[in-house]
Amino acid sequence: MTTNHVPIIRTVAEVRNQITDWKNQGFTIALVPTMGALHRAHLSLVDIAAQHADKVIVSIFVNPTQFAPQEDFDRYPKDEKADAESLSTTQTALIYAPLDSEMYPSPSLTSLSVASLSEGLCSNSRPHFFGGVSLVVTKLFMQVQPDIAVFGEKDFQQLQIIRQLVRDLDIPVDIVSGPTVREDDGLAMSSRNKYLQPDERLVAGQLNKILRKTARSVIDGAPIDETLLDAEKRLIMAGFDKVDYLELRASETLLPITRLTQEARLLVAVHIGKTRLLDNCPVVQ
Ligand code: PAF
Repeated sequence: MTTNHVPIIRTVAEVRNQITDWKNQGFTIALVPTMGALHRAHLSLVDIAAQHADKVIVSIFVNPTQFAPQEDFDRYPKDEKADAESLSTTQTALIYAPLDSEMYPSPSLTSLSVASLSEGLCSNSRPHFFGGVSLVVTKLFMQVQPDIAVFGEKDFQQLQIIRQLVRDLDIPVDIVSGPTVREDDGLAMSSRNKYLQPDERLVAGQLNKILRKTARSVIDGAPIDETLLDAEKRLIMAGFDKVDYLELRASETLLPITRLTQEARLLVAVHIGKTRLLDNCPVVQ
């Protein structure tokens, strides 16, 4: 495996200088926004980015505005050295890791909300979340001005919100999505999987299995409401502590649907111990 030393920069001025320089040389730019604690799924987004642009910038910033006070901001896994090492095996040209004081020199008075797409699902238990994500992603787009930006499909509601945000604000960036990367038992890779205790990790592997089975039943014509209720029961029986939501939504608009007349997505969030896990899968006839 070849490795390259990836420079880390911390300020908007530095990132703008570098981008201007690259753009003057005719290079195209891809941004992969992350909160660090990088794993294989992030690296796969970098690989996708490298297929679309000449220079890949990975941002690492644990964004305080998307965490509520009682959430895990303080214990969110942070290891910049390990992240830089992982990225040295990829085609990352630059790591942009601003400090909180660079990203938010004073509390932001601007708020962004993407109506309807941010209603329900993750917003029910994390009402502040998509406002914080929309704000930081918009700031990153203004700072880096990438030609493309890559986001994972695991955070499907986030992905659709960012697509809409970019359309609504005419931000000149193409949003590219990367498929969910999974462990051998189907668990979607996530930085928060590190929180799982060994017994919880075993249960966590059931999430995607139950989700896929449920999607299959819906595709085969089983009544949607009953099938979802039944799947919620199966999740609890499998050992999850709480089902935050399990819903069938239209893929594009994320509006609730009761009949399978368009491309749909089954989206789930569950709690196990102190960890909240997300997953989703397409439901297409
Ligand atoms: O998906 C994430 O890691 C974060 O929500 C993002 C998009 C980097 C914004 O902080």
